[in-house]
Amino acid sequence: MDFQLSEEQQMIRQAARDFANQECLPGVIERDEQQKFPREQIEKLADLGFMGMMVKPEYGGAGLDTISYVLAMEEISKVDASVSVCMSVNNSLVCYGLQEFGTEAQKQQYLVPLAQGKKEGQLYIGAFLLSEPEAGSDATSQQTTAEDKGDHYLLNGTKNWITNGSSASVYLVIAQTDRSKGSKGINAFIVEKSWPGVTVAAKENKMGIRGSDTHTILFSDVKVPKENRIGEDGFGFKFAMKTLAGGRIGIASQALGIAGGAFERARDYAKTRKAFGTEIMNHQAIAFKLADMALKIEAARLLCLKAAWEKDQHLNYDISSSMAKLFASETAMWAAVEAVQVHGGYGFVKEYHVERLMRDAKITQIYEGTSEVQRIVISRGVLK
Ligand code: CAA
Ligand code: FAD
Repeated sequence: MDFQLSEEQQMIRQAARDFANQECLPGVIERDEQQKFPREQIEKLADLGFMGMMVKPEYGGAGLDTISYVLAMEEISKVDASVSVCMSVNNSLVCYGLQEFGTEAQKQQYLVPLAQGKKEGQLYIGAFLLSEPEAGSDATSQQTTAEDKGDHYLLNGTKNWITNGSSASVYLVIAQTDRSKGSKGINAFIVEKSWPGVTVAAKENKMGIRGSDTHTILFSDVKVPKENRIGEDGFGFKFAMKTLAGGRIGIASQALGIAGGAFERARDYAKTRKAFGTEIMNHQAIAFKLADMALKIEAARLLCLKAAWEKDQHLNYDISSSMAKLFASETAMWAAVEAVQVHGGYGFVKEYHVERLMRDAKITQIYEGTSEVQRIVISRGVLK
């Protein structure tokens, strides 16, 4: 077993770390306060090749492995989780889904610009539309319909909580075609935001990842050409589940980064802040918090890297990605709360960043499957 990163992986990690500190850190507090989408940062990430990291070069991607992706996600999430969620959705849901299951024509038309994050010089990213007002964890209860009309489908319904909802140009939409077939009657489609009948509705005013644009999207008699269906008729739910298994590695890495960012800030603060005549790191209560944080973060990192390695080896990673996401997100929430505690009153104000990391950590326990859903996946796997 080799725990050594390759030279290329180390370079990617350093590039991501530099990017986070130079491009994401300036203005991160203001973007959070103003709920401002980090467009400039995403455009620069696209120029770095980080919006299609695992896409093959012939489809416009960087051709890197999933381990490199985990390392990059971790570093960027230490600083700005609103940037990294946008990156995660484009990489591990949208680009992965199209590369793995799209037709050659779909790849040429959509994957190539999505992997580059740009089309004709303009930002070009995607979104993944599974959740609905009445179908979140219970994802087979799709109410959005895609009626088969011969040469096209007619799409009607409402999707909510959509990350990149207004900034994306392309949506991967899951919808019910034949209710009598249950989950086997569900399809996945490539839908362009600019098509008639598509409406970008309300933007959510959120607790965390406030720079990320989360919207409700409405579909009213949207004509979707047949060639925009992904996979065989009825493949949509399996498409969503298989794609989400990889997506969960992305969100696990995001959580890992949030935890790491909180830890690094708490560690540095503990080395300089004095109380009772000494730096607070010399009080064992504080030192032990830092020890426990370092331990859990290392365990979360190993789970993330193991899931990424399994994916790169083309092994089944359904269980390991759920384990990574569950453990990393619980670690992120816990570590961020502890980081605020280490900062005392200063942790409660914005300048010290840890209160934002604490708010951002919470979403990692909810999206791409709640912690309870990850336990469903893991328990079914171990009981099989
Ligand atoms: N791979 C292939 N097929 C799979 C699969 C997988 N990983 N998981 C399930 N399936 C198949 C099952 O085999 C079954 O098919 P058969 O009938 O042929 O056996 C079918 O799909 C239905 O599966 P289940 O019976 O297991 O379905 P369920 O109703 O019990 O639900 C669940 C399972 C795991 C809870 C699932 O509904 C789920 O993952 N829910 C959470 C949804 C979610 O993660 N949403 C995230 C939205 S995207 C997002 O959040 C992005 C973001 O924030 C940034
Ligand atoms: P519910 O499913 O109603 O769950 C409510 C509670 O009940 C949770 O604690 C849940 O774990 C628990 N619960 C439900 N069923 C069970 C069970 N069987 N056993 C035990 N506990 C259970 N979705 C997308 O499709 N695309 C996106 O881009 C996207 N981005 C998001 C961004 C944000 C900021 C947010 C908040 C959400 C986003 N989502 C997205 C939706 C997200 O995936 C859902 O919120 C999540 O899957 C949970 O669904 P729900 O909110 O309907 O909660």
